[in-house]
Amino acid sequence: MTRSTAIVTGAARGIGLATTDLFLAEGRRVVMVDRDADELAAVAEARTNVLPVTCDVSDPAAVAAMAEAALTDLGEVHALVNNAGVADFGPIDDCSFDTWRRVMATNLDGVFLCSQALAPALKAAKGAVVNIASISGLRASTLRVAYGTSKAAVIHLTQQQAAEWGEHGVRVNCVCPGPVRTKLAMAVHTQDIIDAYHDAIPLNRYGSEREIAEVIAFLCSDRASYVTGQHIAADGGFESTGVGLPALRK
Ligand SMILES: NC(=O)c1ccc[n+]([C@@H]2O[C@H](COP(=O)([O-])OP(=O)(O)OC[C@H]3O[C@@H](n4cnc5c(N)ncnc54)[C@H](O)[C@@H]3O)[C@@H](O)[C@H]2O)c1
Repeated sequence: MTRSTAIVTGAARGIGLATTDLFLAEGRRVVMVDRDADELAAVAEARTNVLPVTCDVSDPAAVAAMAEAALTDLGEVHALVNNAGVADFGPIDDCSFDTWRRVMATNLDGVFLCSQALAPALKAAKGAVVNIASISGLRASTLRVAYGTSKAAVIHLTQQQAAEWGEHGVRVNCVCPGPVRTKLAMAVHTQDIIDAYHDAIPLNRYGSEREIAEVIAFLCSDRASYVTGQHIAADGGFESTGVGLPALRK
């Protein structure tokens, strides 16, 4: 089967835009979804074979309209990448319920809503879903109670979706990026945090948007046709390495 279409949320910049560009290079038509209408229009204008759809993935009515527009345009949906996300770092004691809900609404509700709205089309096309979590969903750390918890839930949601949709031929996997210098990360990463990440990551550096997109594109492709219900950390080795590494280096 020709895997010729994809929908990417949070496509206006960062990892979502890099994923869009890889899909376009593969020859796919891409529906680019983002709530930032201006940034989305600007990047879509500079590309061919895309349909920009302005949508807040945490809004059920907007997601239903997006799914309809996407299906009308694409005909078949071969891949859905649930990438839209927001970050907020701070102590648990200072995390207001509004902040908690705002993070959950995009990072967790958005994945649930977009996947459910597109499930009939994904089943019809035996498509693939990739949900974007984070190393913060794999290992707890300070200052990210809402973000880390939302991402841990995305990893489990991935397994739930894979368990139920496998019999329909839909594969669902999850990518857990390590730090990437996007607008989202740079808004919450101080120089101290950047230095600490470099120390804790065996590859000693941040990843690039393209390096994350490559893993997403692989999981969406037929090369991963027997892979479902998995999460893979694209993180320079952060998750697999225990504490104390900097002190043990020569
Ligand atoms: N950059 C990192 O270090 C890093 C690390 C781990 C995981 N991630 C995850 O990768 C994904 C992409 O992040 P990024 O770093 O490219 O961020 P980014 O801020 O550069 O891009 C995120 C995009 O999502 C859009 N968006 C946010 N909320 C939305 C909503 N409710 N509806 C529709 N669009 C929305 C934004 O407008 C933006 O265009 C996120 O899920 C993020 O949590 C990023």
